[in-house]
Amino acid sequence: MKHLFAAIVISLFAVSFIFAQSGEVNIVPKPGIVTDASGTFVFNNRTKIVTSDKDTRTSASILNDLLLQRYGFKLEVTSKEPKENYIEFMPPGVMAHGEMPRGAEIYAMHVEPQRLRIQGFDAARFYGIQTLMQLLPLKFEGKVEVPAMRIVDGPRFQYRGMHLDVSRHFMPVEFVKKYIDLMAQYKFNTFHWHLTDDQGWRIEIKKYPKLTTVGQYRNESHEGSYSPTFKGDGRPVEGFYTQEQIKDVVAYAKARYITVIPEIELPGHASAALAAYPELGKGCASPDYKFEVKKTWGIFKEVFCPTDETFKFLEDVLDETIKLFPDSPYIHIGGDEVLKDFWKASAFVQDLKKRENLKDEHEVQSYFIRRIEKFVNAKGKKIIGWDEILEGGIAPNATIMSWRGMKGGIEAAKAKHDVIMTPTDYVYFDYGQGDPAYEPLNIGGYVPLEKVYSFEPVPPELTADEAKYVIGGQANIWTEYLETPAAVEYMAYPRMLALSEVLWSKKEDRNYTDFQKRLAAHLPMLDKQNVNYRIPEPDGLRNIVTNKASVSVELKPANGTRVHYTLDGSTPDERSPVYSKPVEVTLAEGEVKTLKIVVVNAAGRKSVVYTGTIVRGEMLQPDATSANTPGLNYTLVVPISDSAQNPPPQKGETRSILLNQFAQKIDLKQPFGVQFDGYFRAPSDGVYEFQIDSTWGTTLLLGDNRKLIDDAGTADRKLRSTVVPLKAGLYKISIRYDHRGGEPHFRFRWGIKGQGLRQAYAEFVH
Ligand code: ACM
Repeated sequence: MKHLFAAIVISLFAVSFIFAQSGEVNIVPKPGIVTDASGTFVFNNRTKIVTSDKDTRTSASILNDLLLQRYGFKLEVTSKEPKENYIEFMPPGVMAHGEMPRGAEIYAMHVEPQRLRIQGFDAARFYGIQTLMQLLPLKFEGKVEVPAMRIVDGPRFQYRGMHLDVSRHFMPVEFVKKYIDLMAQYKFNTFHWHLTDDQGWRIEIKKYPKLTTVGQYRNESHEGSYSPTFKGDGRPVEGFYTQEQIKDVVAYAKARYITVIPEIELPGHASAALAAYPELGKGCASPDYKFEVKKTWGIFKEVFCPTDETFKFLEDVLDETIKLFPDSPYIHIGGDEVLKDFWKASAFVQDLKKRENLKDEHEVQSYFIRRIEKFVNAKGKKIIGWDEILEGGIAPNATIMSWRGMKGGIEAAKAKHDVIMTPTDYVYFDYGQGDPAYEPLNIGGYVPLEKVYSFEPVPPELTADEAKYVIGGQANIWTEYLETPAAVEYMAYPRMLALSEVLWSKKEDRNYTDFQKRLAAHLPMLDKQNVNYRIPEPDGLRNIVTNKASVSVELKPANGTRVHYTLDGSTPDERSPVYSKPVEVTLAEGEVKTLKIVVVNAAGRKSVVYTGTIVRGEMLQPDATSANTPGLNYTLVVPISDSAQNPPPQKGETRSILLNQFAQKIDLKQPFGVQFDGYFRAPSDGVYEFQIDSTWGTTLLLGDNRKLIDDAGTADRKLRSTVVPLKAGLYKISIRYDHRGGEPHFRFRWGIKGQGLRQAYAEFVH
């Protein structure tokens, strides 16, 4: 279906087009073809809606509901065509230009002075209505004017998804519906509902009541492995959806042409299920192993044991689940991040391997997924699994959701399996959007709006034939650090709008500057809908390295927004100067200044602080060298003293600079010193931030003896940060930590200033 659009459009409109004047038309996602016509269609509350059958009457009622919400009135629906002043819904068969393939999501909208017509199949007309609502002003002032135009529009991809994790934090039905409403507004058609995980089981299964009577509860501690700095408030988390609520959400989504795909995680991410029914882990874990709903974040070794009892349970669960989602062609069965420790140690699994001729535990996982797939296929549904299900051999009919980059998706497409692209680098909407010093707590990383907009779901590695297996893309929102609907909204919007364009619009029509302009016109609508979106930064805010004593920083605040700024390091607020002309920044030699701003939007809501760092000086040049061995050299010294009896240092190579790798070698609570040496590869030119969060003494050297951090520390944890402009390339680096006893803490992170900090080691070589 996805490739038909271009062909049909070309055959329908072999005339020349003038694109609608901007300022008038701010549709997101950008429509395929918009041509200007002369005049305006003016409607008021006496305008009629003309329908020809039950299906077009459904469209009329959808439009009326939206008009009622926005303007407080509905239009009269009739089957008799008046002379003028009417909106008409038509099936595509009536179109002058020929037959559409059944189910096509392509609509045509003709706005003429006397009438406004929307043509297409049901979902297509729905998208036409969404486009129409975007052409209408937010306020009704006696009449509404729509400039005459013709639009022919349809999606690039057939699968346009948004995911939501409701296990880590439960999200109420009302919020799920609001999430679906916004998906519909931007022409998404698939909601991936992540219903089960280690930290909570959230779907009622009648045959196994303990899944929710036990599996929904966790006593929150927030001692998460991802964020050791975060101290939780100890509030418990609970909640699940009854089957009636699930049916209600599914029907709500269906009325908006959105399919809901449930995810039941297996064989890993199963702690909540195992806490409820520990017997499903027996044969793998020891008989007295205590399963519990996990209170921390991470990847755990708790896993379903592949016994007949487990398969019977999962089949029963899937059977009930499938019945609740009758319109979904898919069931998502998870399959990610399965630790194999329990299976490796299990006599039952080792025996199974022999019996089934399975080479290793990856093949045990494949056996598991294949058995589940067979059951799901027999029920007339297909499975989707995360890309790990490729390991050990892909199940025959599985669709792959590629999240660890595009690699899994490429492999699957080449093997003629359908693929949905959801790579972390572009569409993990739980990742940060700015400086972690100011952004709400999140899982880390940096996926700003522009990065999402630059996402290309079809990788160049695929031939045209292979590319057909890429059925679409999706953003994932994991909620470890997102406790409330408002927190989810901050991460979802406006990034979801950027993704809508990636998945709907033609690749060659994508233009970020143009998108930003159209986006600005959408934000007041999101305000009206009470959406806690992240207010975009103004254009022009950036890091600068200069050898001049003064620079002028020009910002371009979006229409209707106000920018307040400071240059003295203080936190800006509504009392700080308002940006009205370029800011002059003067700097002494070697000085670093930070332009801090807040943006107040048209609704009066204030953004978090956004920054641009300005450095006077030269960029450091890389040390002329090459080093390709991943990781660093380490030297471990115990104890630290001047005594001649110090044992000789222990030396080695390592891929990480975490302390716990030495736990087998030394007592980490006693004094010790550790030094890591090698090279840091700056991936691009930029103003880099290096941060060390530690107790006791720490040193960071870059290049030949350039000391960036040198601090004796205390028994209390302390955050040290330094900013340095680097040209892309390799720099000698030496990082030292001198522990003087007690609970050690040492964490090194780096990043481009203002763009998130990483605890990643791929850029370390020696
Ligand atoms: C995933 O993010 N573990 C699919």
